[in-house]
Amino acid sequence: MKTVYYETIDSTNEEAKRRFAAGEAEPLLIWANMQTAGKGRNGRSFYSPENTGLYFSVLYPCSSKQMLQDFIFVTTAAAVAVCKSLRKNTGADAGIKWINDVYVGGKKACGILAEATYRGDELGVIVGIGINLSTKDFPKEISDVASGIGDFTKEQLHEMREAILADVGDALCDYFKNPSDHSAIIASYRQMSVVLGKEVSFVRQGENEIHGIAKDILDDGSLLVACEDGEHILNSGEIHLSFYR
Ligand code: BTN
Repeated sequence: MKTVYYETIDSTNEEAKRRFAAGEAEPLLIWANMQTAGKGRNGRSFYSPENTGLYFSVLYPCSSKQMLQDFIFVTTAAAVAVCKSLRKNTGADAGIKWINDVYVGGKKACGILAEATYRGDELGVIVGIGINLSTKDFPKEISDVASGIGDFTKEQLHEMREAILADVGDALCDYFKNPSDHSAIIASYRQMSVVLGKEVSFVRQGENEIHGIAKDILDDGSLLVACEDGEHILNSGEIHLSFYR
């Protein structure tokens, strides 16, 4: 895949949008040493300091808007690929916290933000991934939940970044070539889940916090939680998982 690197950029997702709008027609991987306006989900920012993390976006141009429905599992595929690659290249005991965050040692080490962008009838799917490798000194608001993976030398960081970009880039290209084949992705996702069998709590709109035990990830990626009042099936749009233990 064609790859471009920036020492500093506002956001690799935003750069992917700009390049797609300017006519980019091939799959493209954009990565940066630092982001000045890293974006997270739900309007949050993503802390992206220099020399410690890996911030990248894969842009995949498609011929038609219709294809968007094929890409429903793209963040799942990305979470599985990152988790596998972190285990292999950093030795970390990484796992996936439903729905698509990668956790190490009970804290978030990676976030994923997928976006769609349009140029006339053409669709660009953007998968943005931010990984805290040796990141420390997180802003106070997130220091309880976010963590780096370890202390790495400059050389180790260099090798890890190269290896992770290659692994995840290849896995996403495979997924984009065959986006309707979800079963292997969901099977790996289940194996890597850090919430299955754990106590979780969630809030549905207009309800109090509900506690239960996470029992299964269903084939559509939803989470089955057994609670005192029966089983709840959670999908990402409607709940906020506040903790697991
Ligand atoms: C989240 O956890 O809320 C998602 C975080 C996604 C962060 C990555 S870093 C690379 C890419 N560029 C961005 O601005 N955001 C994503």
